[in-house]
Amino acid sequence: MRKKFICGNWKMFAPAWEGEIPAFAENKIVAVAPPFTELSRMSERLKGTGIKLAAQNVYFKDNGAYTGEISAEMLKNLGVSYCIVGHSERRGYFGETDEDCLKKIEKLAEYGIAAILCVGESLETREAGDEYKFVGTQVEAIFENISPAAAENIVVAYEPIWAIGTGKTASAEQAQEMCAHIRATIAACKGSDYADGVLIQYGGSVKPSNAAELLGMEDIDGALVGGASLEPASFMDIVNY
Ligand code: PGA
Repeated sequence: MRKKFICGNWKMFAPAWEGEIPAFAENKIVAVAPPFTELSRMSERLKGTGIKLAAQNVYFKDNGAYTGEISAEMLKNLGVSYCIVGHSERRGYFGETDEDCLKKIEKLAEYGIAAILCVGESLETREAGDEYKFVGTQVEAIFENISPAAAENIVVAYEPIWAIGTGKTASAEQAQEMCAHIRATIAACKGSDYADGVLIQYGGSVKPSNAAELLGMEDIDGALVGGASLEPASFMDIVNY
C-alpha cells in the first residue's frame, strides 16, 4: 500500500507560517519546501510536528567555484530529506534539462536525499494532443538511466503547467490518467513491481476543496502544493483531506 505524500512548495515566498500546526495520520508523509534562506528557521519550526524539510533546488557538483549554487551535502547538513528537481519554473525560466535533472537526482541520492521529479506539459502541448508523449519522454529520460540507489529514493510529481498557479486544476480523471501513464512508463523502464511502489503526486492548484477528489484517485499518491501551502491551516487541511 503506497503512502500519501503531501509536499508544500513555497517557491520564492517566505511566509511566517504562524499558528498551530495540526497533527496528521502516521500513514502520510508530509514535507515543506521553503526557499534556501528559510531552511534553517523552518527546521526549528517543524521540530516535533513530523513534517519533513524539503529544498526547491540543488546543484549537481560537490563543491567548487559555482557562485550562487547550493550542494546536496549543504542541504543534508541542514536536515533536508527531499528536494524538488525539474520544476517547470526551473525548466522554463532557468533552462533546466532532463540531463540536469538526472545529475541532480544522482547527487541527492549520494546524500540520502529523495528527489521529487516534476514533469508536466504546457497548454500548447495538451491542445496539440501530445501530452502523453511529452510527459512519457520526460519520465523515460530519467528512468531509463537512473542508478539503482537513486531509484530507491525518488518521487514523481505530475504538474501540468497550465494548472500551476492559475486556479485551473486538472480534473481528477485527467490527473489520474496521466499519473497512470507515468506509472506505466516507469514500468516499461524498470518493471511493474518497481513502478507499483513509486509515489506519484499531482500538483497544480491543489486546495482544501479539491484535495479529497484528486487524492482519492488510484494512481495519485499525493500532492505538490504551491499557493495553498503558504499558510499552515490551509496546507494542513489538504494533508488531512
Ligand atoms: P500551485 O503550484 O499549487 O500554486 O498551482 C504548484 C506547484 O508549482 O508546485
